[in-house]
Amino acid sequence: MPDRRITRRSALIGMALSSAWAASPARALTSAADKRDVPGFVNDLIARMTIEEKAGQLTLMASAWGGSSATALNPPGKGSNFDQQVADAAAGKLTGVFNGNGAAMAQRMQSAVMAHSRLKIPLIFAADVIHGHRTIFPVPVGEAASFEPELATRTARVAAFEAAGSGIDWTFAPMVDIARDQRWGRSMEGAGEDVLLGRLFAAARVRGFQGTDLAANDAMLACAKHFAAYGAAEAGLDYSTVDVSERTLREVYFPPFQAAFDAGCGTTMASFNEISGVPSTANHWLLTDLLRDEWHFPGLVVSDYTGDEELIAHGVAADGREAARLAIMAGVDMSMQSNLYWLHLPGLVKDGLVPIERVDQAVRRVLATKAMVGLFDDPFRRIDLAREKSRSLLPASRKLAREAATKSIVMLKNAGAVLPLDKAARVALIGPFGTGPQDVIGGWNVYGDDHVAVDLATGLREAGGAVTVVRGCDVHSAIPGGIDQAVAAAKGADVVLLAIGESQDMSGEAQSRADIGVPAAQVALAEALVATGKPVVVLLRNGRGLALQAPVQAAAAILVTWFPGTEGGHAIADVVYGAVSPSGRLPVSFPYATGQEPYHYDHKATGRPQPDGPLQPYKAHYRDLPDAALYPFGHGLTYGDVVYSDLRLSTTQIGAGEAITITATLTNSGRHAVEEVAQMYIHTRSASVSRPVRELKAFQKIALAPGQSAQAQFRLTRADCAFIGQANRPVVEPGTIDLWVAASAQDAGLHGQFTIIT
Ligand code: BGC
Repeated sequence: MPDRRITRRSALIGMALSSAWAASPARALTSAADKRDVPGFVNDLIARMTIEEKAGQLTLMASAWGGSSATALNPPGKGSNFDQQVADAAAGKLTGVFNGNGAAMAQRMQSAVMAHSRLKIPLIFAADVIHGHRTIFPVPVGEAASFEPELATRTARVAAFEAAGSGIDWTFAPMVDIARDQRWGRSMEGAGEDVLLGRLFAAARVRGFQGTDLAANDAMLACAKHFAAYGAAEAGLDYSTVDVSERTLREVYFPPFQAAFDAGCGTTMASFNEISGVPSTANHWLLTDLLRDEWHFPGLVVSDYTGDEELIAHGVAADGREAARLAIMAGVDMSMQSNLYWLHLPGLVKDGLVPIERVDQAVRRVLATKAMVGLFDDPFRRIDLAREKSRSLLPASRKLAREAATKSIVMLKNAGAVLPLDKAARVALIGPFGTGPQDVIGGWNVYGDDHVAVDLATGLREAGGAVTVVRGCDVHSAIPGGIDQAVAAAKGADVVLLAIGESQDMSGEAQSRADIGVPAAQVALAEALVATGKPVVVLLRNGRGLALQAPVQAAAAILVTWFPGTEGGHAIADVVYGAVSPSGRLPVSFPYATGQEPYHYDHKATGRPQPDGPLQPYKAHYRDLPDAALYPFGHGLTYGDVVYSDLRLSTTQIGAGEAITITATLTNSGRHAVEEVAQMYIHTRSASVSRPVRELKAFQKIALAPGQSAQAQFRLTRADCAFIGQANRPVVEPGTIDLWVAASAQDAGLHGQFTIIT
């Protein structure tokens, strides 16, 4: 149980903090921002609330309905049963619950609160709707491979349509953490390693979840998480220490949050990690000075699951009471799952350690948020059992899932144009991911159903393929006779489709890997199959960038299929048989080996870059590996053959307020229609701080029929060339800028240059 003692030290700190806060201009500013969207009745309500009722409005718990699906995704909770939870809600001890199942649960809880609670403040229902609700779309990193943010808006719209139809008001998504280290398992939940892609997908997903009217019964509130730099964990170990410069925070980790907020995202979640010694949940600089005073974020900050209580384990709070005080004073408005605010806020206020104004401010944000999603107008607006059923897994939703999965597939290699396959080809489908509904939809889904997912064998057969299925091995271990059977099947076939990679429990929260290769048993299978001399097409199942071992690299073709979602098998078949040309591009680099991690294409040159050509001594390179990626960010082949030519820049100098237009011609000299993603990168040669070797500034997806040419066109403003300077603020400096229009971060592409003038 949390310790209720007030130490002299915490009392003094608390008093100093409280009075400094009360007198600070920051508070005045914050309050002004708060008042913007707050209906008058909210303040009247606050005036009538007891401190206990206020603490209750700041307390969110995992749903206890049916054992709670949240407990399957999180460490076990404190074990309340559902009836008890309903009683707690009616007694004003809760603001809402998350990850409970559906409209029936919401109906029971909301009815109890509206009938029996003193103030009849509706509950809010939240959930981790990360990549679909009932219809599951590709995992977010896969969807980002589409390089089509508008697609993410459409899938998030369907997720909101289904989830809001099930009584859910608020999703804990999008996850907008930049992932530069593929050992980190939550790479799966974001848009990858690049800042531009991260910003565009963050905004796109927010727009999709929230729609144009947040009070509509097909819209739900978004939550940009995890604020901040959660993906920068040392050694890729989930929850681990983060120690990054303010410049990198502002240049890499913050921009996707800013993009989400600019798109109207109503909430954010404090991350589990510390940054340079201060856990985000207790980080006043992050949650108040920056978020409120500098960015003027008017929304709600929720802790992550027991994030406030974890301040004790971090070693910055002595006990639960101190943890609660640190969290609320840093700027966490709502506490998730620890119950610490309920337990301690009344006492902390009574003892003068937390000003009541700070509690009221947090409550005001919560109530304003509830008002914004329409709960005060109609607490049951998203709760309707018939609607829940009628919106689930509609044909149009499944069609979109198939489109999204198709667009997420990245072709890394296609030697000898082995793909697309002829439907008459005899296919040996081998590997642990060939059949069975598991490992298709991917982790971090609370409400998806494996059994309605289309597996690979079904997808290929429904496309008319002649498929023999042999498992060959399990995910982590050989099966007796497995390789022999697989080799025999390969010998009797024209082509091997080898479905290998990660199972879905290998990526996601707490699923860090110290080795991001394909598990050894599957590599042995690959080796034996490649040795048959039959063409082997690897179909990778994965939630992160992988370090592919030599036998996997030796396959004739490699498709990255991620965890493709409900329509996975159909989508992969569409690409394998050529109904659709692959169009995905890697949003994360695939290194040669795990030892290169953290690896990101937009790294710095160092003072001793290794020049092209033979290795030179005393230059930045590994003894045993290339220092580039095996398959870089932005890479992805099509069934066509696209040639880039004729780069033109509208000017070679950009003055104040000016922009430059860049064009290049793309020609499909192949025999298949394709969608090419032309990418525009820049590098600032000399500046007051060192700049990445390349930064993606724009991209364009262009459809090209065989033989067709089209122009890619980009506009680059002077502001696009800004970076975070020595004073940790954006600057634009005069100088020469290299520019490439290229097919990937490592493609030579077309090169030009221009100058920024004063
Ligand atoms: C995760 C969050 C999630 C929360 C609630 C935490 O463990 O870090 O992303 O929203 O649980 O399920």
